[in-house]
Amino acid sequence: MKVLIVGSGGREHALAWKLKQSPRVQALYCAPGNAGTAEIAVNVAISVEDITALVAFCKEADIGFVVVGPELPLTLGLVDELAAAGIPAFGPSKEAARLEGSKAFAKDFMKRYGIPTATYGVFNNGQRAEAKAFAKELPGPWVVKADGLAAGKGVLICQSQAETEKAIDYILEEQAFGGAGASLVVEEYLEGQELSLMAFSDGRTVVPMLTAQDHKRIFDGDQGPNTGGMGAYAPAPIGTAALVAQAQKEILEPTVAAMAAEGRPFKGVLYAGLMLTEKGPMVLEYNARFGDPETEVVLPMLDSDLFDIMEACSAGGLARMTIRWKEGSCVTVVMAAAGYPGDIRKGDVISGWQQVPADVTVFHCGTTRNQQGQAETAGGRVLSVTAGNADLQQAVDLAYQGVAALHFEGCQFRRDIAQKALRQR
Ligand code: AMP
Ligand code: GLY
Repeated sequence: MKVLIVGSGGREHALAWKLKQSPRVQALYCAPGNAGTAEIAVNVAISVEDITALVAFCKEADIGFVVVGPELPLTLGLVDELAAAGIPAFGPSKEAARLEGSKAFAKDFMKRYGIPTATYGVFNNGQRAEAKAFAKELPGPWVVKADGLAAGKGVLICQSQAETEKAIDYILEEQAFGGAGASLVVEEYLEGQELSLMAFSDGRTVVPMLTAQDHKRIFDGDQGPNTGGMGAYAPAPIGTAALVAQAQKEILEPTVAAMAAEGRPFKGVLYAGLMLTEKGPMVLEYNARFGDPETEVVLPMLDSDLFDIMEACSAGGLARMTIRWKEGSCVTVVMAAAGYPGDIRKGDVISGWQQVPADVTVFHCGTTRNQQGQAETAGGRVLSVTAGNADLQQAVDLAYQGVAALHFEGCQFRRDIAQKALRQR
């Protein structure tokens, strides 16, 4: 089977790395890919939002299966267009991807089906006064979210009423997120620990993966601005079997059942961003795809053939599959470019590859190959340095040995990845 992976981050490199291990995958392509995917797949220079060119390439190259990494092509309907061309794919349809593409849709959906989530209201530009009045009724802090996709920047956490009113105007009136902010969600702030719960779904059956914890802030101790994620580990000790069973019953199963009942069955990865509150797990957001960097720690723990699972998600039959996981833990530390998450420095050569311990896997995020064939920096998150071990502390130490070996100008990384989990043991 010839397989195309759409995307160019650490998630897609990890997907390529895992799919490469399947005896059923004969040839692997990645669009557009990065310097890491170039080592194990053929990179194809098509951007993720060029749906027409992606479908045309699949026909031309006789691609038998497509794996969609990021949310943008999903919300643009790539999976639907591929289906119309007779090409099976892993990922939700445009209608199903609305769970991620519209926060208003997701919140109304959860309310309709009693899926636990923060109290909220949805408002458009004509309803700014109502939005502000609604916020006044909520205890602070306040959370204001642009409705549409905003590259992870559309969530504003406000400490005062004044700040909340500014956030509402910033999104609706000043249109800081463009069309993604044509409407917004104002919601109650939830207290607790966050957990990433990703699950495979074939539209009827939903099977949770190992839990993971991301580190969203740029600096140690969860300080500084939000990022795409600075590191992760799996499994998360707070994601106990009992908690996952509760989330399966109260969140994952009702979500998949209701999406099917509404005529938009959800296939692919259903990722519930959970807040573990005193009242139980509540949904902060849905994602319609694998998380990044969660994928870089969850896939190395997967013992089963990923291609078989993805095919079952696409064609149905997930209920008949046994999905096995490895023992132990996996940790990834993200090395980011200078300036990230703001304006970043690009074009620096990455060195130190020979010194990376053999049992460390380096997934590339924002990299490209230069004229000399060297990997250089090309994005905010540059590398995701990953290690697994029976012992979490050893996995952490190993990952940081990999980080110490690698170098590029201005590189920044957190020194406390997985410390929360180590403290909880
Ligand atoms: P989201 O894109 O919805 O996951 O939001 C990004 C981040 O904002 C989350 O990972 C949380 O850290 C935080 N967040 C979002 N919604 C809430 C909420 N209702 N209460 C507390 N924190 C939140
Ligand atoms: N790591 C968070 C996300 O992928 O959305």
